[in-house]
Amino acid sequence: MNVFGVDIGGSGIKGAPVDLERGALTEERHKVLTPQPATPDGVAGCVAEVVEHFGWTGPVGVTFPGVVTGSTIRTAANVDKSWIGVDAGTLIGARLGGLPVTVLNDADAAGIAEMTFGAGRGRKGTVIMLTLGTGIGSAVFVDGRLVPNTELGHLELKGHDAETRASTKAKEDEDLSWHHWATRRVRKYLAHVEMLFSPELFIIGGGVSRKADKFLPLIEGIRAEIVPAELQNNAGIVGAGMAAGSE
Ligand code: BGC
Repeated sequence: MNVFGVDIGGSGIKGAPVDLERGALTEERHKVLTPQPATPDGVAGCVAEVVEHFGWTGPVGVTFPGVVTGSTIRTAANVDKSWIGVDAGTLIGARLGGLPVTVLNDADAAGIAEMTFGAGRGRKGTVIMLTLGTGIGSAVFVDGRLVPNTELGHLELKGHDAETRASTKAKEDEDLSWHHWATRRVRKYLAHVEMLFSPELFIIGGGVSRKADKFLPLIEGIRAEIVPAELQNNAGIVGAGMAAGSE
């Protein structure tokens, strides 16, 4: 079965048809820049542009970088605050001429894809996927089952919101070396999450997972296994498609 996945990010909105048997995109993805400010109407228009680029008329799954219950947006850390309270499924569905739309948190989507087709395949026990990007997203699984909207990126770390210390945006904004970022920021963050959840496995996603060799080997003293995501930047699109396919 083929469905369509769209990943809404702070800088880009990308999507493609997804083959649910293989967990892969069936065509090269299409990307448009996220409008600034990233308001509901502006973003919904971009999602429609991506979907219409493929002439798609079936079910659509959409990720959102905030808490999503049902298809209503509850938090918006890195997009316009006017999203809070908006029923994104209804808004985007209307822009798509009534196509069925499923909405879920971006890290949850990436995690679902990794657990089925990537680094978490067949893994039991507690597995935590963390996406390091503009913010930090989390997806917590117990024996393969997701606990949605865990928001571990907003844990407090030394009096700070953790994502402002350990995201890749923090690395860039503060011009931190790989070594400093990995050993002081990411390691401390992982140690804190490990203290709370004792997972078997951490899966590290986000664009930076492509450069895993530059920082994962520097992280010591964590009991859990730490591996990079395998689907890399397509995990969100695949996971969005999987969510739409399971409706
Ligand atoms: C948001 C999460 C999101 C993460 C990654 C955080 O700021 O609160 O919901 O998953 O960023 O986009």
